[in-house]
Amino acid sequence: MPPIVIFNFKLIAMYTNILTGLEKGIFTITINRPDKLNALNAAVFAELNQALDEVYSNAAIQSVIITGSGPKAFVAGADISEFNNLDKSGIMHLSKAGQETFFRIENAPKPIIACVNGFALGGGCELAMSCHFRIASENAKFGQPEVNLGLIPGYGGTQRLVQLVGKGRAMELLLTANMIDAPTALQFGLVNHVVPVDQLMRKAIDILSLIQTKAPIAVAECIKAANAVYDETLNGYAVEVAGFGTSFDTADRVEGATAFLEKRKAVFTGK
Ligand code: COA
Repeated sequence: MPPIVIFNFKLIAMYTNILTGLEKGIFTITINRPDKLNALNAAVFAELNQALDEVYSNAAIQSVIITGSGPKAFVAGADISEFNNLDKSGIMHLSKAGQETFFRIENAPKPIIACVNGFALGGGCELAMSCHFRIASENAKFGQPEVNLGLIPGYGGTQRLVQLVGKGRAMELLLTANMIDAPTALQFGLVNHVVPVDQLMRKAIDILSLIQTKAPIAVAECIKAANAVYDETLNGYAVEVAGFGTSFDTADRVEGATAFLEKRKAVFTGK
């Protein structure tokens, strides 16, 4: 458990396996084990969950970028060195816990973009896919190589890869363990943009800064309704109706309509 220091009466978490920073409402989470290509071990997951607590609870955080430390990798997967310590029930617990963390990312009420700056393999590809969308640098590589290890993806990869690229392409990637490069990921719809590595963060910041000018409750309700497409327990159209009502019933909706009629830019407050 990382230490917690009290600063200005606010709890500020101190991390070692991830780095965080908050600037102009954009919270950046950087997975920080570059010597292990940012592989996701238990300590990374613990800190990632703590950072997600911040995302959910800190009103100063308006949007989030997740990226990897160092020049080579976003995240090269779950930490393979931890697997041999576990039995079948332990590994299933690990899979379930990883899925829970990635559900928290997927269902966060604030936009979360993955900036994929190198290898996004196995759990790294799954982490990127749990984000609301992805931007890749030109050197990014994506893959689900688990069958090389006699395994299958365990953090939602079999499900989200099919959702994002379609069943045929997903099957080929899952069964061959082949990696795809950034242009192919763009062609498959796995990423929204491919940019030179030195423009990766700038691209994400530009997009998130634009989203931050929109009504936050409407943004949150869009995320909820779009996610409902993939949740069999929900009727997405009913979620949309509810979200339409929730967003309608806000001061920001009044401000949006008033600003339009007054031919000025709306100033939203998140209320
Ligand atoms: N788990 C644990 N350690 C990992 C890792 C992972 N998923 N991926 C990389 N590492 C470690 C390596 O063991 C190595 O550590 P070392 O220097 O102490 O030996 C270090 O990161 C650098 O990796 P290396 O393999 O030397 O780099 P490379 O450039 O030759 O190859 C990859 C890069 C990504 C192709 C290769 O590391 C790889 O195949 N990683 C595993 C990918 C994978 O199967 N992920 C799914 C896991 S379920």
